[in-house]
Amino acid sequence: MADVRGILTRRLDSAWKRGEPSALLADWAERIAALRAVSADVAEAAEGYAVGIAGADDAAAIQTVRNAALSRENGAFTEALALGPSLSVDEKRVLGKGLNLGKALIEAVEKAKREALERSKEDANALDVTLPGRRPFVGRPHVLAQVRDELLDLFHGLGFSVYTSPEVELDTYNFGKLNFAPDHPARDAHDTYFVNPDVVLRTHTSPGWVRAMEERKPPLRLVFPGRVYRAEAVDASHMDQFHQMDGLYVGKNVSMADLKATLNTFARAIYRRDVPTRIIPIYFPFVEPGVQMDVQCATCKGTGRYKDESGERRCPVCKGTKWVEVLGAGMVHPNVFRAVGYDPEEVTGFAFGMGLERITMGRHGIHEIRQFLENDTRFLSQF
Ligand code: DAH
Repeated sequence: MADVRGILTRRLDSAWKRGEPSALLADWAERIAALRAVSADVAEAAEGYAVGIAGADDAAAIQTVRNAALSRENGAFTEALALGPSLSVDEKRVLGKGLNLGKALIEAVEKAKREALERSKEDANALDVTLPGRRPFVGRPHVLAQVRDELLDLFHGLGFSVYTSPEVELDTYNFGKLNFAPDHPARDAHDTYFVNPDVVLRTHTSPGWVRAMEERKPPLRLVFPGRVYRAEAVDASHMDQFHQMDGLYVGKNVSMADLKATLNTFARAIYRRDVPTRIIPIYFPFVEPGVQMDVQCATCKGTGRYKDESGERRCPVCKGTKWVEVLGAGMVHPNVFRAVGYDPEEVTGFAFGMGLERITMGRHGIHEIRQFLENDTRFLSQF
């Protein structure tokens, strides 16, 4: 009998990469076993080509192996089929059946391999819909800007407009016209950065009142938000730049009662509706009388004592005083009116000034003032 096995295996190439047909065809094992039962020679050859197709890296490599097996001119299976006339009827029947099964099996592996290649190409370019999406980064106003805007909203509602004045300010506006006597110790509280002997970085936002009053006639109802500077040693609760907002109301018969009502409205809006407040006297050169407004300490709820796992002690926030200072205020000093050309017999006014960092730290329980300037998004994104 002709060398069927030789013809069928002649074109197998040991250079082909070998793959695993059973990974491509679920019924590979049954089909190759069925083929083996018909013809071990054909099964051996078919497996060789199937392994070559399974191992192919691309369509061209698949085609090479397929052609070696099935090409109409010189494929191994085609040549084996051409042996037919020289075989006995029985041999012809067995070989014909084997070649048909083997050819179908190789074609099935080829089809599955081509589909697998297509799929892996798609996978490489495809969106993985199971990956969680990446949120776009969305910025937000700085926490100090949020508090400032909330205060501006509140004071707009009370009829105040915004007035902004320079951060680099004349010494006379920062001090002299605000009734600081040249050698008065009140200046000690303002550790001033001097640009030259007549120019300073403003130590508070109060100089804004002087500029507004020099520019405009009463009545005035203004707030003065902005950045201020002091030559302070920096630590967890002090920085050499921070933010304030002053307010000023000048008109006829503006009284201390108006001041108290305004400050209480502020405290209820910014702290809580029923927060106890108190006003105590304190000296500022530009107001008379001068006051400080305190709100009840939120940490100890006005008890002065603080309890946690480690026991009871003096409240660390108010230091046992039960109150936290929130702002300075008072009735505008007659000397300030004189300095801007207003007649203190004609007009009266109140003013107040608050620190935005202090309010923000109290509200959010922030204990480190430097975080406001560090631009660390882990901090900023919490607000
Ligand atoms: N300017 C003062 C400071 O920075 C705060 C202040 C006190 C402002 C009393 C006022 C006021 O408007 O009336 O220490």
